[in-house]
Amino acid sequence: MRKNIVAGNWKMNTVLEEGVELAANVNDALKGNKHNCDVVICVPATHLVPVNGVIDHETLGLGAENCSEHEAGAYTGEISAAMIASTGASYCIIGHSERRQYFGETDAQLIAKTRLALDNGLTPIFCVGEVLEQRENGTYNEVVKSQVEALFCLSSEDFAKVIVAYEPVWAIGTGKTATADQAQDMHANIRGAIREKYGEEIADATSILYGGSCKPANARELFSKPDVDGGLIGGAALKADSFIGIVEAFD
Ligand code: PGA
Repeated sequence: MRKNIVAGNWKMNTVLEEGVELAANVNDALKGNKHNCDVVICVPATHLVPVNGVIDHETLGLGAENCSEHEAGAYTGEISAAMIASTGASYCIIGHSERRQYFGETDAQLIAKTRLALDNGLTPIFCVGEVLEQRENGTYNEVVKSQVEALFCLSSEDFAKVIVAYEPVWAIGTGKTATADQAQDMHANIRGAIREKYGEEIADATSILYGGSCKPANARELFSKPDVDGGLIGGAALKADSFIGIVEAFD
């Protein structure tokens, strides 16, 4: 059976001391309690090493928010998948809508990042999602399907290691959540596309997370849907109690 996962995406928030404190608080709150999901925090690259020092990996997974599309070399300011893996992190968000929108990341770049993440033993959390105009003009199913299909150049073995996150762009940081039914419909659409390409077993085993204004008050309803396997959490991941409240939605 596929895993339930709650992953935090801190984005460009917290300076080092704040981030280390938040990670330690999340870790302490989770420690010793059995929850029905894996919990991960994806943190700014500057925080990976010190955060790794204050968390227990059986309790809390650690990830980066992005990686370079290049393996190594003269790419000033970039951070490679190998560098991320060397910090002790084991996940990497790829293709967040903010990367696609503000940094113009293309499918080809995102595939290169995904391959490098996989080659370095990182689990990609690959993000897809439509913008408001596409939701309103009814093209959202095709748009998201084609974003997922960009991954279909991966072998079955590699695809089976990927976590997909559906994040409707109009719901990110806006307070407007997709309804649980809208999320379920899209997740079923995504799983259907995966089934067509890779077959039943891999489709059933792929965790598909919902992201976009997910909070303790709406998480339980979203996660109760059969194809919603957890959440990618932005704003509500910046406070230990609201993040833990979302984790507890699986209890
Ligand atoms: P949000 O962000 O929870 O603040 O809407 C989610 C995300 O962008 O991953």
